[in-house]
Formats: sequence, structure tokens, C-alpha cells
Amino acid sequence: MKELFRKKSLEQLLAEMKGESRLRRVLGPLQLTSLGVGAIIGTGIFVLVGQAAHDKTGPALILSFVVAGIACIFAALCYSEFASMVPVAGSAYTYAYATMGELFAWVIGWDLVLEYAVASSTVAHGWSHYFQDFIGIFHLKLPHVLTTAPFDYNPALGKLVLTGTVIDLPAVIITALVTIVLVVGIKESATFNTTMVAIKLAIVFFVIIVGAFYVDVRNWHPFAPFGLSGISFFGKTLWGQIGKGGEPLGMLAGAGTIFFAYIGFDSISTHSEEARNPQRDVPIGIIASLILCTLLYVAVAAVLTGMVPYDKIQIDAPVSDAFRQIGLPWAQLLISLGALCGITSVLLVMMLSQARVLLAMARDGLIPPSFFGAIHEKFRTPWKSTILTGFFVALLSAFLPLRILAELVNIGTLLAFVMVCAAVLIMRKKHPEAKRPFRAPWVPLTPILGILFCLMLMFSLPAENWIRLAVWLFLGFVIYFGYGRRRSHLARPTY
Ligand code: ALA
Repeated sequence: MKELFRKKSLEQLLAEMKGESRLRRVLGPLQLTSLGVGAIIGTGIFVLVGQAAHDKTGPALILSFVVAGIACIFAALCYSEFASMVPVAGSAYTYAYATMGELFAWVIGWDLVLEYAVASSTVAHGWSHYFQDFIGIFHLKLPHVLTTAPFDYNPALGKLVLTGTVIDLPAVIITALVTIVLVVGIKESATFNTTMVAIKLAIVFFVIIVGAFYVDVRNWHPFAPFGLSGISFFGKTLWGQIGKGGEPLGMLAGAGTIFFAYIGFDSISTHSEEARNPQRDVPIGIIASLILCTLLYVAVAAVLTGMVPYDKIQIDAPVSDAFRQIGLPWAQLLISLGALCGITSVLLVMMLSQARVLLAMARDGLIPPSFFGAIHEKFRTPWKSTILTGFFVALLSAFLPLRILAELVNIGTLLAFVMVCAAVLIMRKKHPEAKRPFRAPWVPLTPILGILFCLMLMFSLPAENWIRLAVWLFLGFVIYFGYGRRRSHLARPTY
């Protein structure tokens, strides 16, 4: 029993940072913020808003973004505190190792695979939607069998249906390309990312400013056609309307869905080891990117639901389609291109983060270090795990539908946020003396509110997600008890 809760001490973590085989410290505050924005703005705002507004919220989508943003701010403050204390590569996984012990660390590390790798598959799907929207402008079309995953959830019928396709080919291709960029190096990836981020920010501003001229306030009535609630408890909707498949509807349910749009700010903490001055710059990067994105999202939600009646919002490429609907096809072209760049950068950062987390776990011996810890001699990147991640992401995005993947990611990420908030509480109690270059304000209130908000969003997701999460965690336990527990470096007496 004691083994399961063995912890890494803070001293140990800091000492390890000075060891061999570390990543290069090349990232400054602007690059970190840009990595954050790079990871945040993508499929959530360009694709999932359509489903959320159309099926769950109506114009109350604006409030959904506010609620999800608040949950993230609390978690972001907790992440920042930890990132400044232990600026190593593993993010939430490492924080849990230091506070709650090995088993929790494993759970969170395994859960982060759900966040980063499965999010990458979701994002690759989103890319595919916009790619098809883009070539559609030139009257080009992929053969139907290559356009999307072979099945999907149909909310009108309340069940899974076959789509008549075989594979989402564009999703597989973009994943392969991003994997190559990642193997070549972090510096190159960061430069590529900065360019992509600049383009996507320009497009988001364009949507807000030009779209504002086409807002018809009548579209905001009724504001909340599905209500302002939407909470369920393991399949029983406690508060709010119920969809055909038994899923909760309403503003809070929408917040659970579009929470996906915020995922990514935490990935900055996986780059702490590559930051030049992590204690100061990582908290800046996390908080600045989150605040910026929250403001932009609320504005985009207001414009989108103001431009098009909510039930006419398209599902696949809703933002660019809104401009088509108001008769600006050239804007549709611009937005599709911007969305493609934007979503590419999300994919880049998410997959980058996944390899970093695996690296941290490999260094601790919880997964095979010879594979996951291998750093490429020339490129200095964890190339083997990057390629494996690419393969996994391509596989999922080829065959599983976007909405199922997105919800799974949301519940997994929310769980990670809950654990990070709890870890801050524990650390403050156990190690009040530890050096904290950044301190989350109003502790214990901030982490407690973070936990409550995240739990609320977890319960606003359709109930099957809890089952999927449980299956995922069960698989994780099998691997931990079969491998990690015995191979853990902390299990070695010399350590
Ligand atoms: N927040 C990221 C996106 O929306 C994952 O694509």
C-alpha cells in the first residue's frame, strides 16, 4: 500500500532538473504565450461551437464560454503555482507525483494521454472539416468514403449511425505532417507555431470585427432556447432539458462541450523545462493566453449567434459557413484558411505536450525509458514517443467520430484540473515553506472553486463519458500494476 503512495520530493525533482538528457532552454515569455494561444484556439472555436449552439445552447453559448472560462481561470492559477515551483517537463503528472504519490501521478499521466493525444485526434478531425470546406469553395470534393469517421452520434435520433464512409483521410495526413515537424525540433516547431498563431489571431479578429456588422439582435431571441442549466448525474438529468439520446441540454451542458475550446493553456506547463526563465514566464504564459482566449471566445460566440439563427448554424465548419450565409464567400475562404492554420498549431502543441509527458513518465521508470525517454541525438527531441503519438492520433482520428472524442477529452482534462487544484491544496498544507515564485491568490478558495466548477462541467457531459473514462482508467491500472509499479525508479533501493 505504501508503495502506491510513494512520492518524489521537491528536492529530488529540482535535483533531477540539473541532470543529463534535459531539453534545451530556448523559450521566452512571448513564445510561451504563443504556444498557449497556439494550443488553445482551434477546433473548439472553429468547429465545436456549431454543435454546441445548434444542439444544446442557442445564443446562451456566450454564457457557456464565460462559465467554462471561469473554471479554467481557477485551474490556470493552480497550474501556474506548480509550474513555478517545479519547472520540469511533466506538468500535472509531476505535480501529482510530488504531492499525492505514485498511483495518483500515474492516473494523471495516463489521463493526460486522454487530454493530449485524444485531443489531437479530435483536432485533426476539425482540420479535416475545414480542409473540405476550403476545397469545396473551389468546387472540389474528396470521395465520400475518405471524408470522415465511419460512424457518428446523431442527436436527432439519439444514437450512433453509420456515415457510409471508411476513413477520415485528411485527418491522417495532417497528423503525419505535424509528426514530422515535431521530430525535427522544438525551436523549429516554436517558430512555425508563432507564424500560425499570428495568422489565426488575425482571422479571429476579422470574424469579430467584420461579423459584428452583420449581427441581427433578433437572432439572440430566444437567448436560451434549451434553458440555462443542463446537469446530469450518471445518466439521470437532474437539472435541465433532456436530449433524444438522454444527454443534458442547456447552457451548462454547452459549457461542458465547449470547454474543449479552452484546453491547451495547461500544455504550457509541459514546456517548463524548455523555458529560459520558467518561474516567471510559465505563469505569465498560462494566464495571459487564457485571458486573451476567453475574451476572444465570448466575442466570437456573440457574433456567430448574432449573425445566424442558432438552428441554422452549420455543424462542420460553422464560422466560415456563417459568412457564406450572409453572402460573403470571400470571407469564407479567408476564414477556412485561418482555421486550417489555427487548428494545425493546436495539433502541433498538443502532440508536442504528449511527448513531453511521456518523457517525464519514462524518466521515472513508469513506462519503458529506452523507448519513451529516447532523445534524438541530432534533433534533441523525444522522437520515438513523438512518432508513436502520431501513429495513435492518426488511428483514432481516422476511425472515431469528432463529438465522441471531444467529450472524452473534456472529461479527462477536467479530471486532471481537479487533481491539480487538489494538489495545490495539499502542497500548501504539507510544504508551506517551499519556494513559490508564483502563488495562486485566495488559497484555499481558488482551488476549491476550481474543483467545484470542473466537477460541475464533468456532470454536464453526457453520462457515457463517465463509463469511457472509467474504462480508460482501468486500462491504465492494468499497465501500472503490470509494469510501472515494479519498474518505478522509486522502487529501487538506490534511489
Ligand atoms: N482548445 C483546443 C481546440 O479547441 C484543443 O482545438
